[in-house]
Amino acid sequence: MNSDESRARIEKLRAVIAHHDELYYRRAQPEITDVEYDRLKRALAETEAEFPELALSGNESPTARVGDDRTEGFVTYRHRERMMSLDNTYSEMELREFYVRVGKLLGREELAFVVEPKIDGLAVSITYEHGTLTRAVTRGNGIEGDDITANARTITSLPHKLKVADGHAAPALIEIRGEIFMTTAEFQRINKLREEAAEPLYANPRNLAAGTIKQLDPREVAQRKLEIVLYGLGACEPPAALPATQRGWHEQVRAWGLPTVEKYWGAKSADEIWAAVRELDRTRAQFAYATDGAVVKLDSIPLQREAGATSKAPRWAMSYKFAPERAETRLNAITIQVGRTGVLTPVAELEPVHLAGSTVSRATLHNRDEIARKDIRTGDFVYVEKAGEIIPAVVAVNTARRAPECVPYVFPEKCPVCGTGVVQAEGEVALRCPNYECPVQVRRRVRHFASKACVDIDGLGEAMVDAVVGKGWVRSVADVYRLRKDDLMTLGKSVEKSTDNLLAAIEKSKTAELWRFIHGLGITHAGASASKDLAQKFRSLDALAESKFEDYIVDKKTVIEGIGETMALAIIEHFNDPRNRALVGELQSLGVRPAPPPERAAATSALFAGKTFVLTGTLPSMTREAATEKIEAAGGKVSNSVSKKTSYVLAGAEAGSKLAKAGALGVPVIDEAEFVKMLAG
Ligand code: IVH
Repeated sequence: MNSDESRARIEKLRAVIAHHDELYYRRAQPEITDVEYDRLKRALAETEAEFPELALSGNESPTARVGDDRTEGFVTYRHRERMMSLDNTYSEMELREFYVRVGKLLGREELAFVVEPKIDGLAVSITYEHGTLTRAVTRGNGIEGDDITANARTITSLPHKLKVADGHAAPALIEIRGEIFMTTAEFQRINKLREEAAEPLYANPRNLAAGTIKQLDPREVAQRKLEIVLYGLGACEPPAALPATQRGWHEQVRAWGLPTVEKYWGAKSADEIWAAVRELDRTRAQFAYATDGAVVKLDSIPLQREAGATSKAPRWAMSYKFAPERAETRLNAITIQVGRTGVLTPVAELEPVHLAGSTVSRATLHNRDEIARKDIRTGDFVYVEKAGEIIPAVVAVNTARRAPECVPYVFPEKCPVCGTGVVQAEGEVALRCPNYECPVQVRRRVRHFASKACVDIDGLGEAMVDAVVGKGWVRSVADVYRLRKDDLMTLGKSVEKSTDNLLAAIEKSKTAELWRFIHGLGITHAGASASKDLAQKFRSLDALAESKFEDYIVDKKTVIEGIGETMALAIIEHFNDPRNRALVGELQSLGVRPAPPPERAAATSALFAGKTFVLTGTLPSMTREAATEKIEAAGGKVSNSVSKKTSYVLAGAEAGSKLAKAGALGVPVIDEAEFVKMLAG
């Protein structure tokens, strides 16, 4: 490779990795497996090492920084001590080299290590101040992350107070690092509900856990059971007498009542490390959660400090990742699935093959670009992998076995169902069928609308929806309310009773709760919980359909509770489509009368009505969430930043820049005692 070629290769790899970082860390929807991702990163690191003059300085290359999970809608928070990533390998030899390297670095022959399971979740830093949980923050870019405290508080296994034995005070402030994850059982429970609501399934527990913790509404988070394991130390202020070994640290964490890794091994040689890794691999299937590897850490904490770190990972630790199970099989065909919004998803129809405990005959191919990137062709022999993923993926083609007659796959230009020409929206990878009346789209919209999670029409399950759409009786959600007994009776002989039941269920659904209708409309991003907030705020389908962006804004920054900016825009766009808008009127003329939710208590205090509060620092007896709730219940609002419009700054211990800003702007500052007095009127 000459220097121009390598420059091009480096740039291409960086762009591809940046794309996958965005999908994995920010959207929790990766398109490639971890192994493929690690391969890309390794290829980049190798090319950069070969051409150091091309490797950019600082942290511009993804090889020199940690993935960034920060997302819109969260307040960022700076870690007191950086959060790092781990170097990883799939090779036994490299793991052994790591042992030798650390020995050389520290000038010692024998070193004690600890081998821990690597939990496949997302990294988090939990702060306890004087033994009370005050903050949970994602890794972010390692320097600052998203403040997910309210969401983390819904994790029942995470204590809000540290257990401290008599005579031992908890440190004034301590950051404890760990991993938030979801058990396989909980993952399966949620996917089952998704299946019933005719919604697309989540690919694996890690993505679902990451997506859940980034929900804007803690109530939504509480409905999905997340778990946590703590294994590391961040900052401790003032420096306290903490254990001097990693093992000791595990015991300390456990003594505070925090969940720790369920098993770990001590190892004093490369052989012992390898034996521990093998044993972990043999036993990990029994764990309640997905374990994608082993983390090998130097046991002595003073020696960890001596070994130090590179720009993104400690030199004293390494992760060994278990290779996912992989099978080779023939790709018999590529079929196209059309979703509720018309998106065309290519699916691999495989010669059935046994993989990680089940038989695989289909796998998603994501989109046109992915097929082209991997050059997947019908008739090819392909490798299928299932790592943490429950849904298998086609990772590569065995080109050595490619038959000469295999030609590149041509993505259809027409919808395979209705023949309409497909379109690609700007900035999107997906291709869509733009025909709103495409029978698949209609079927999926109606299935979603009638599902338990929405309007819940008993008797209008998948088969029935297919039948009534197939007959042409139902071409829109509104047509459900136009179904006629005479027609339904022609569907079979002994259907009189079930027809009556179905018609009664349809009739009953006309007065279902408003949020069920909102959810049933299938607006992008509007799940059940958001639909409840929307129902509370707008109180009728008409009002929602007429809403403008201003209606969603509470103060300059925040959008109404539970609804983010993205969702507000999606709602407006949804009703910009005259067909979606017309549906609302049609439903009403067919007798649909959604029941609005009961009014939430009106503002109770004149001292709070219309006032904006900013909270800062730690209050002596109240969490921020509790204070926020009280302010809102009394008719006030809470905002994140201090401005001239702020009515009060409610300040606790260690209040920072917000307090200074309040002083500068002349905004009144109150403490908890005054606040409590105000509440009492
Ligand atoms: S230690 C400075 N221990 O894996 C060392 N990490 O690929 C920081 N992880 O960012 C990490 N299980 O999110 C450590 N037992 C374990 C772990 C673990 C899972 C995650 C963690 C880290 C990532 C690196």
